[in-house]
Amino acid sequence: PAPGMDLLRKRREELRGHILEGRLDAVRRQHSLGKLTARERLALLLDDDSFIELEPYRRHQASGPGLTGNRPHTDGVIAGSGTIEGRRVFVYAQDFTVFGGSLGEAHATKIHKVLDLATANGAPVIGLNDSGGARIQEGVLALDGYGGIFRRQVEASGVIPQISVILGPCAGGAAYSPALADFTFMVRDTARMYLTGPDVVEAVSGHRVTHEELGGADVHGSSSGVATVVHDSEEECLADVRYLVSLLPVNYLEPPPETAPTGAVDDYRPKLARLVPAEPNQPYDMREVFAEIADDGEFFELHEGWARNVLCALARIDGRVTGLVGNQPMVFAGVLDGPASQKAARFVRFCDAFGIPLVSLVDVPGFLPGVEQERSGIIRQGAQLLHAYCEATVPRIQVILRKAYGGAYIVMDSRSIGTDLSLAWPTNQIAVMGAEGAVNVLHRRELAAADDPAALRARLVAEYTEEYLNPQYAAERGLVDDIIDPAETRAALARGLAMLRDKRKPAPARKHGNQPI
Ligand code: COA
Repeated sequence: PAPGMDLLRKRREELRGHILEGRLDAVRRQHSLGKLTARERLALLLDDDSFIELEPYRRHQASGPGLTGNRPHTDGVIAGSGTIEGRRVFVYAQDFTVFGGSLGEAHATKIHKVLDLATANGAPVIGLNDSGGARIQEGVLALDGYGGIFRRQVEASGVIPQISVILGPCAGGAAYSPALADFTFMVRDTARMYLTGPDVVEAVSGHRVTHEELGGADVHGSSSGVATVVHDSEEECLADVRYLVSLLPVNYLEPPPETAPTGAVDDYRPKLARLVPAEPNQPYDMREVFAEIADDGEFFELHEGWARNVLCALARIDGRVTGLVGNQPMVFAGVLDGPASQKAARFVRFCDAFGIPLVSLVDVPGFLPGVEQERSGIIRQGAQLLHAYCEATVPRIQVILRKAYGGAYIVMDSRSIGTDLSLAWPTNQIAVMGAEGAVNVLHRRELAAADDPAALRARLVAEYTEEYLNPQYAAERGLVDDIIDPAETRAALARGLAMLRDKRKPAPARKHGNQPI
């Protein structure tokens, strides 16, 4: 054998042994918890045989209980690069079978390397998290390791897409890595994310909660909004990550992958005209509108269970990836509240950062009135969405399906804040407020003094509706470019996106804006 080959072979065998046999008990335990191993996960995530592993031999140089004399290769994280549908990504997968996936100096350094290479190569980074957190015996060096991850993630923000997948515990400071990512996936029953676990919560508050109640996938998918996507199994979850990656650009300078045009420019969808009831208060599912507009009726919805009164999704229109934002009349009549504003704001910023055009489908009665809303800062949160739209330089198209009232109309990408193309359906009602509310404000005294207030109110409402809520009102004043047949919406969007294809709008010179976060 060539010089050194014997030793190399021995080391490789050791490594394979560590992976396949040496830790069989730990692997069995991992499986019994309903979890796959790090390598099984990477095999599901990446194209076959595409994985290139980095630093498999790295091991910790630390000492302490359980560490001295116990220095497994990889140090509990498998790091490297592979492809998804042939496109390069960088990955790391924490290995719970080694020190509970806990993060020490060597472990962190490997993740730093993955983030550095991903940024330098302009390729998405995907982190598979399954870890007991900072490795206690490595003390502040473990904390320093986390800081290095966070700083790199922030530096990579808006440069490359960042996806975080939670497949086990992700507690304490570790939770800030998914929080900084663009997309966070969680799996029910096994994934949990919290800053302090149930024991600490009980010690501090006396309140007993389970892991699942405190930081399970459904909590973060519906109440906190920390999780973007929630799945029942790891297999489904990792397949969905692949689907998401297929819709994303590899970095902010590249366009998202396009598929062949689908003839959308000539599409006529009569179903669209039937979906939206003309009466302003009748609900319908905006998802059905998304499905009629998107190629093959397919879209990738974000935060499906959180702030359900607004919908955000990535879809293709005539082969081109587009971000869809839509009010959801099925939930709270589609009003904007604090969480809905934040959900849409983050999505708009993501699309803008990565050159994805925006289509906003508007049917909004306003911002949600209420003491709780005001106290929790709906002004601040609504301003986040306003700021995000105003700042967006990607192609922007607004479609007003029905109601578009007041401040919420302005915020939902109106002409005044910079939409490039505003289209409206013949059922549009763009106004400061609905007829009843307006009549109450304008004619309060006359109504109070009237012999027959109901008859007077009905007449005034009819007059207001005729004057202000007629579909031509905004178009005549240049706030709407065109009134379209609903059935032509998909075609109009495809044409509009083609028209705006080469849009370039330099950002003003400054360090950065001060968005009202
Ligand atoms: N540092 C060092 N070792 C850790 C660790 C950490 N933060 N977290 C887990 N481990 C080790 C355990 O000691 C155990 O080692 P062993 O197999 O040699 O006994 C192994 O990883 C598996 O952990 P275990 O506790 O048996 O798994 P579990 O599924 O029962 O519980 C946790 C998982 C994450 C809930 C639990 O390990 C835990 O609470 N860890 C500490 C979390 C923490 O507070 N981290 C610091 C905050 S950033």
